[in-house]
Amino acid sequence: MKQLSRQQIIAQEMPEIEAEHRGLFALCWQFYKELRTGAASQGQLLDVFNEIVDQASVHFAHEDVVLKKIVYPRHAMHQLAHRQILIDLVSSQHAMKKVNEMAHRDAQHSLDALLIHHVREDAKFARLVGEIEPCSIGIRLWRG
Ligand SMILES: [Fe+2]
Ligand SMILES: [Fe+2]
Repeated sequence: MKQLSRQQIIAQEMPEIEAEHRGLFALCWQFYKELRTGAASQGQLLDVFNEIVDQASVHFAHEDVVLKKIVYPRHAMHQLAHRQILIDLVSSQHAMKKVNEMAHRDAQHSLDALLIHHVREDAKFARLVGEIEPCSIGIRLWRG
């Protein structure tokens, strides 16, 4: 079977990767908003946070496969960053099971790390594949 070229892999995978990014950002905004307005119960907040952890886990695994396929030069570091973020998220997920303000702040820090990763690190491979203007990934994700 003929192997796909880097450009073919990118064309095939990037729309889904971007959709996953938009989904994650939308959930993070929802969490921040519900926390700020006090509109959600602890159970609802935890539901949103659990969904973020699940989606981040699926997304990181998918992105790691794509970065490996395209022989991304920063792949090892990028994969390590994913693992660290996931450890943070799971740690916050456990803390969130207890109702207290510190757990909420801790959860926000973990989400900040997730969002910053996308704006800083994913922007590097987005630039490499040439599909997205440098520095515009954060704006695009923000708009949804
Ligand atoms: Fe990503
Ligand atoms: Fe990433």
